[in-house]
Amino acid sequence: MATSRLSLFFTLSLLYLCNMLSFAMAKPANFGRDFRVTWAGSHITELNNGTSLQLLLDQSSGCGFASKNKFMFGRVSMKIKLIAGDSAGTVTAFYLSSETDKVRDELDFEFLGNRSGHPYTVQTNVYSHGKGDREQRVNLWFDPSSDFHTYSILWNHHHIVFFVDAVPIRVYKNNEAKGVPYPNAQPMGIYSTIWNADDWATRGGLEKIDWSRAPFYAYYKDIDIEACSTSDWQSHCSTTASNWWDTPSYQQLGPVQARLYRWVRMNHIVYDYCSDKSRYPVPPTECLAGI
Ligand SMILES: *[C@@H]1O[C@H](CO)[C@@H](O)[C@H](O)[C@H]1NC(C)=O
Ligand SMILES: *[C@@H]1O[C@H](CO)[C@@H](O)[C@H](O)[C@H]1NC(C)=O
Repeated sequence: MATSRLSLFFTLSLLYLCNMLSFAMAKPANFGRDFRVTWAGSHITELNNGTSLQLLLDQSSGCGFASKNKFMFGRVSMKIKLIAGDSAGTVTAFYLSSETDKVRDELDFEFLGNRSGHPYTVQTNVYSHGKGDREQRVNLWFDPSSDFHTYSILWNHHHIVFFVDAVPIRVYKNNEAKGVPYPNAQPMGIYSTIWNADDWATRGGLEKIDWSRAPFYAYYKDIDIEACSTSDWQSHCSTTASNWWDTPSYQQLGPVQARLYRWVRMNHIVYDYCSDKSRYPVPPTECLAGI
């Protein structure tokens, strides 16, 4: 009796602590406080007292930044205004990664530029326990360089959802029960980069960067991290179901979200590894309908 009460108290304290920590992260991120430069600080400029950022790509370099902390489950979102005009060959990325090479977990948003007047492509990928190769591509139905749009990743015990504004563009369900690896054993940091990828990004590498238009700029603001952040994540964050992102309404898409998701799948998806017979003569388990 005493033991179970003590353990209940202990559990509640941990839940409380985790909530406190995740609540603490709910305020908008500040670049200097929450992030660090990972690559070419000279190409990153803080604007508006550190609440927004400008990333620059020129012929000498791209650049990148990362969160100082790692997180376990939650939702990370940011508003991004992508490179305007002719952005062919450039890639701007926002991703979560465990940075553990052999058993890497990673959730990628990669924005592939295009020639003026052609649609920007969003490529998503999911690495789980070191295995990626799960690319999907969606062409955006608006010009993401004319204004800020919100890109977010929801990651909980049930699924991972990539959102463009309120529209789910990708869902990766937890199918561990069917033998599909799911990222739930290690925390991930938040990363962003902008770089020259004209060997593959636009029309398979046919379209090169037009350097006469450099430098190229992307803008970030309102980086919102609602996630469990703790050095002792294993006991604090990995199994609790008390965080909002694990409550029933976040365990699957709601009816409106499901409708929007079907609309994306029907009208805007341009590539899906699940239906790429040359790479996967037998579709991977997670691709089978109904899973
Ligand atoms: C700028 O940011 C600092 C630290 O984040 C804060 O203390 C200060 O009040 C901010 N200044 C303005 C004008 O918002
Ligand atoms: C770029 O535009 C072409 C032509 O409109 C389109 O087929 C392609 O999906 C777009 N995106 C990329 C990354 O090539």
